[in-house]
Amino acid sequence: MSGTRAPEAPSPELFPEDFVWGAATSAHQIEGSPLADGAGPSIWHHFERIPGRIHDGETADIACDHYRRFPEDVALLERLELGAYRFSLAWGRILPEGRGRPNAPGIGFYDRLVDALLAKGIEPWITLYHWDLPAALQDRGGWIHPDSASWFADYAAVAFRALGDRVRSWITLNEPWVIVEAGHGQGTHPPGHRDPRESATVAFRLLRAHADTVRVFRAEARGQIGLVVNLEPKDPASRSTEDLDAARRADIAMNRLALDPVFFGRPADGLADMYGEYWPRFPDADWTAIAEPIDFLGVNYYSRGVTTHADDKFPTRACSVEPPGSVTDLGWEIHAPSFTRALTDVRDRYGDVPIYVTENGAAFPDPPAVDVEPLPDPRRVVYLRDHLRAAREARRRGVDLRGYFVWSLLDNFEWTHGTSKRFGIVHVDYATQRRTLKESALFYRDVVRTRGAVLDAAPRGDP
Ligand code: FCB
Repeated sequence: MSGTRAPEAPSPELFPEDFVWGAATSAHQIEGSPLADGAGPSIWHHFERIPGRIHDGETADIACDHYRRFPEDVALLERLELGAYRFSLAWGRILPEGRGRPNAPGIGFYDRLVDALLAKGIEPWITLYHWDLPAALQDRGGWIHPDSASWFADYAAVAFRALGDRVRSWITLNEPWVIVEAGHGQGTHPPGHRDPRESATVAFRLLRAHADTVRVFRAEARGQIGLVVNLEPKDPASRSTEDLDAARRADIAMNRLALDPVFFGRPADGLADMYGEYWPRFPDADWTAIAEPIDFLGVNYYSRGVTTHADDKFPTRACSVEPPGSVTDLGWEIHAPSFTRALTDVRDRYGDVPIYVTENGAAFPDPPAVDVEPLPDPRRVVYLRDHLRAAREARRRGVDLRGYFVWSLLDNFEWTHGTSKRFGIVHVDYATQRRTLKESALFYRDVVRTRGAVLDAAPRGDP
């Protein structure tokens, strides 16, 4: 060759030094021991006992036994060199009846967990509500009850007082859309209701609960507080006007359900028309009160939705079709470009809010028992690599993305699928409760160590 050299490809930007790298879980999915030390049962606890609701009739009574094994799980976070851990509080451990007298032993569990994390230099990120409403509150009507916002704000105040001296980062609700749609629209999650008027009212009540809690936080605690939504960009299944309109409606009903009220203080444009006679009328001032400024937005991203017109689907008259691309074990299409788009769409519509990706990950079948460490999970490695590149691309396009939490630290109780779907970067053998690192865990550790430089090398196991 002559003296000319090929120009070097510009190296993509590293993630900044202060980027938050973490892993996420939720109480009901990992803790087990649901009634230990005076805890009150949750709506999931009861729902799991209804035949046919959970795959194979499983319950989360043991799950990952994290309630008893948390020191081992904190040691895993340390081994993976993660700076942050997102977990949720089980409301019923703190207030067994949902309201009234706090339960000191339940608070004690989270006290010890927080202290164990801080001792290892891991920042606790607490979600106040990850779907496990105390059953005693459901008996009073649950989220439909006009007092539900104050029940939640009072519970949050107890949590802020107990842990706010050590915990800086708080999340009010995890994924209001799922609570509304799965819990009250389709009835596949507890309380198992299928009621269009109720689902719209619950959306409003949840957001009031969120905003009232942010106000309590401002008055009583220090640090940062935000909301977590799951976003799924919608693409039409064809170029027909019907499908284009269907994709637009699905986008409003899912992706704007919470964000328009939180950022604009009004219901998502077009949602009232979709609900028609079922739309509950609340005074404008009640909607305005939802727009209490938040410190950050948490975004959970798993997939996009390829959408077609479906007359029988309420309220959107839209549904997802089988996607063209390859899918995970839950049938969710693997589509990393839509991750970038979910993040840039938020910025374009709502402005420069600081964003943390609070969940992203994939279920793939792993064996129930393993005898090698690390367990090879090449598809999860590739999923994470492609999605972390997509997150980096969103930053390059100017999104103020400040952190990323992989879902999940551990294989866990995946709601109605029970333990049959594995999302962990750490394998759990449910017969022995043994934890084994998967290759995706080591890959993620390399990403963290190199601030993303390793994303441009061929990862271990890349086919
Ligand atoms: C999200 C939930 C989380 C987990 C993942 C796979 O919707 O927040 O608890 O189930 O999906």
